[in-house]
Amino acid sequence: MVVQPVSQETQLLELDTLPQHVAIIMDGNGRWAQSRGMSRQAGHRAGTENIRRVIETLARYEVPVLTLFAFSTENWVRPKREVNALIKLISHFIDRELKALDENGVRLRHLGNLEPLSPLLQKRVEDAVDQTKSNDRITVNVAFNYGGRQEIVDAVRKIIDDAVPAASVDESLLTSYLYTVGLPDVDLVIRTAGEMRLSNFLLWQTAYAEYYSTPVYWPDFDMQEIERALLAFSQRERRFGGLLDEDVSNGNGRRRGRAR
Ligand code: FPP
Repeated sequence: MVVQPVSQETQLLELDTLPQHVAIIMDGNGRWAQSRGMSRQAGHRAGTENIRRVIETLARYEVPVLTLFAFSTENWVRPKREVNALIKLISHFIDRELKALDENGVRLRHLGNLEPLSPLLQKRVEDAVDQTKSNDRITVNVAFNYGGRQEIVDAVRKIIDDAVPAASVDESLLTSYLYTVGLPDVDLVIRTAGEMRLSNFLLWQTAYAEYYSTPVYWPDFDMQEIERALLAFSQRERRFGGLLDEDVSNGNGRRRGRAR
């Protein structure tokens, strides 16, 4: 695959070490709006508009799975007006983007619990998931009313309901009960707006993920910023708890100071 990066800086992008699953915590909509004298809701609208270009860019790089953190189980404590605006954005997103996403081979999935939404909106989300289920260019999971701990609790409940014997419960079985069943683990977590927290996002699936934080607010996280994140990922040395080949062949069992 030959992809012409949009920026000079990313000319050296190593396309053979691209992540298979990118997960993004889309932070900073509020600050983006505030810095322009706009309402927080306007920030969330701008953030929603940014989703299309991020999907397009990652699809262009043949990244097969993207998960977007749109609303956490903890976000209900925000002012009612803001919560309602975020819920409304789901239907706007479906209205405005579904046709183009479908035509461009995007498979949509939802992670989390839709129950607090109106039956009409639940149905629209389910229909969008159904309409795009055969697309295979890129899978986009929208995590809405999602919590990583809740996902693990739900998995354990289903395992118990299925009367699975304790001796049969292992990592691969638990993985198969998660909302992300069938998808690869997360390779790269991106968080915008300078924060350094995981915020209960994909706790199980990010066990060995690389983490990338940028001060850029989500609505400004453009193609060049995505390429910067992909470049940073391609330069990381991933060991999954082991040693690098070069350390083993040098007889050098020493761990480097970097994260496991
Ligand atoms: C964090 O910014 C962002 C959110 C809590 C919501 C993210 C949601 C969207 C981008 C749109 C919804 C997506 C879909 C698919 C409908 P913040 O408000 O916490 O920003 P701040 O930290 O600057 O206040």
